[in-house]
Amino acid sequence: MFRSVPNSFPITDDTTVQQIARQRPGDDFLSAKAIHKSFGALVVLDNVDFAMGVGDAVGIVGPNGAGKTTLLSVLAGAFPPNSGTIFLDGRNVTALTAADRCKSGLARTHQVPKPFGGMTVFENVYVAAAHGELVNRDESYGRVIDSLTLCGMLYVANRQADTLGLLDRKRLELARALATKPKLMLLDEIGGGLTDGEASELVETIRELRRRGIGIVWIEHIVHILLQVADRLICMDAGRIIADGDPKAVMRDEQVVKAYLGRSPA
Ligand SMILES: Nc1ncnc2c1ncn2[C@@H]1O[C@H](COP(=O)(O)OP(=O)(O)OP(=O)(O)O)[C@@H](O)[C@H]1O
Ligand SMILES: [Mg+2]
Repeated sequence: MFRSVPNSFPITDDTTVQQIARQRPGDDFLSAKAIHKSFGALVVLDNVDFAMGVGDAVGIVGPNGAGKTTLLSVLAGAFPPNSGTIFLDGRNVTALTAADRCKSGLARTHQVPKPFGGMTVFENVYVAAAHGELVNRDESYGRVIDSLTLCGMLYVANRQADTLGLLDRKRLELARALATKPKLMLLDEIGGGLTDGEASELVETIRELRRRGIGIVWIEHIVHILLQVADRLICMDAGRIIADGDPKAVMRDEQVVKAYLGRSPA
């Protein structure tokens, strides 16, 4: 469950979320220009441009193999693009490592969870909270408790990570990313396989992140979950962005329907 959003968290309505999203109008926190990425002869990102503000919530959809995870990895610094430039908070970070980008406020989750299997859930999140910085120990512990609580994982804090099932591993990805105190989180398919109730709880968790002013990029195949959180939707196909804008309009877009159905809508 993604329950456990404590009652003490500030509860605001969607109007406030929208206001947070626009508190820095026109100010791109993360942007990528003319990104190309190939694996051997396979072109996976083909001249992709992307930009978003710090409080925005952007959903990314697209068929399998469209290049969504690769885009996230290039933005996060897991590997460099073949060409193109990435800016984070006004700085060219194209040559910087993922760890350095994380210190500047960019955190990600992995589609295939990558916990430290021999460590407990608490320890996994603590490593993220204290990552490479002289973070005060009390503050690190506070961040761990906060992240585990928000992600509904406090009750498994002492479990060894490699004993967790897939859903809990995905929650742990989210908790670890959150513990780095990010300004922007890149989320890769954290909602797959959830029941309706669990999906609602996940949506509430992501809304709480937005209330805190954290920007969200969220790749998900379950579009109805995305539409509850994203105020902008991007559809990728074959390494390109084929639609970008109002979520409902993007889902009606002829090219998007064709990408999913393999033919034009009737
Ligand atoms: N490290 C890699 N080496 C070689 N090919 C890769 C590598 N990573 C991804 N690919 C290929 O690049 C293409 C895009 O992969 P990517 O994982 O970005 O797609 P995706 O849109 O996230 O798909 P999905 O919805 O299935 O997660 C696929 O054809 C994939 O097989
Ligand atoms: Mg993927």
